[in-house]
Amino acid sequence: MRKILLALTAELRRLKSNGVKTVPVSPETIARLKAVVDAQASVQAATKPAEAVGPLTPASPASPTPAAPVVPASRSVGVAPPKVTLPSGDKVSQMEWLRDRVLHDPVCRERVRPGKQVVVGVGSLDAKIFFCGEAPGAEEEIQGEPFVGPAGQLLTRMIQGMGLKREEVYIGNIMNWRPELPTAPGREQEGNRPPTAEELKYCLPFLEAQLQIVNPQVIVALGSTAAQGLLGVGSFKTLGEIRGRWKLFAERPVMVTYHPSYILRNASNRSKRAIWEDLLKVMERVGLAISEKQQRYFLEK
Ligand code: URA
Repeated sequence: MRKILLALTAELRRLKSNGVKTVPVSPETIARLKAVVDAQASVQAATKPAEAVGPLTPASPASPTPAAPVVPASRSVGVAPPKVTLPSGDKVSQMEWLRDRVLHDPVCRERVRPGKQVVVGVGSLDAKIFFCGEAPGAEEEIQGEPFVGPAGQLLTRMIQGMGLKREEVYIGNIMNWRPELPTAPGREQEGNRPPTAEELKYCLPFLEAQLQIVNPQVIVALGSTAAQGLLGVGSFKTLGEIRGRWKLFAERPVMVTYHPSYILRNASNRSKRAIWEDLLKVMERVGLAISEKQQRYFLEK
């Protein structure tokens, strides 16, 4: 139960940091949560409280025996961020070298579960626009490619709305692995948690190296975590403070906007228009033609 609550809390924190203010909960969900809490309370009443229910290994109503050890919610990285010096050569050979470097990085490898992958960015090495997200999710760590799950499909549609193909931009993440949550052996991780400041710092040199190779005109930071990774943890309080404004990372212009998952949860024309206005600014900055139709997207009620 506690595992579920930890995952739920992490997800709610992530949504909040991405600008989500309300999450609708149906009466059925409330009733089911209450039933789980009541069942858990009766199991706990029948066992010795402290020893029987350890911090991350609670007995569940279905299996009152102590659960198997779980992966901790977050581990300290414990080593300094890597120093990445690109070899001389063309963009293709530099990116091949970097991909190999990241995929074999011992810290990254240690943090992905068996059968899952470390994830490096993809796209055009001559892209004018570099989209930067937070971290791989369930689908991404399976496929080894950023933004291929539901949020990624929406990002692809947003890119197409700008008149571009996915392959014409570059898409990466601050993180190269999916931040782990407590998960019993043999089970799939449920939910995601935001990376720690230390994790963000560890992966940043890999992102910087990708930027160095691609040399885009503009970076688009998708959501609060990406913005924090680029602009510094604690450099702003809410995404609303900086969304839609031009910032700088390593002397490159950064447009901060909502994460596509925010739109998946708030599919109103208002929120779509907000993110679209940020993308119009990006199109203008890189010299993409903006049609009358594109100018008016999501304006109608
Ligand atoms: N969310 C992200 O921020 N990145 C991904 O790759 C997928 C989902």
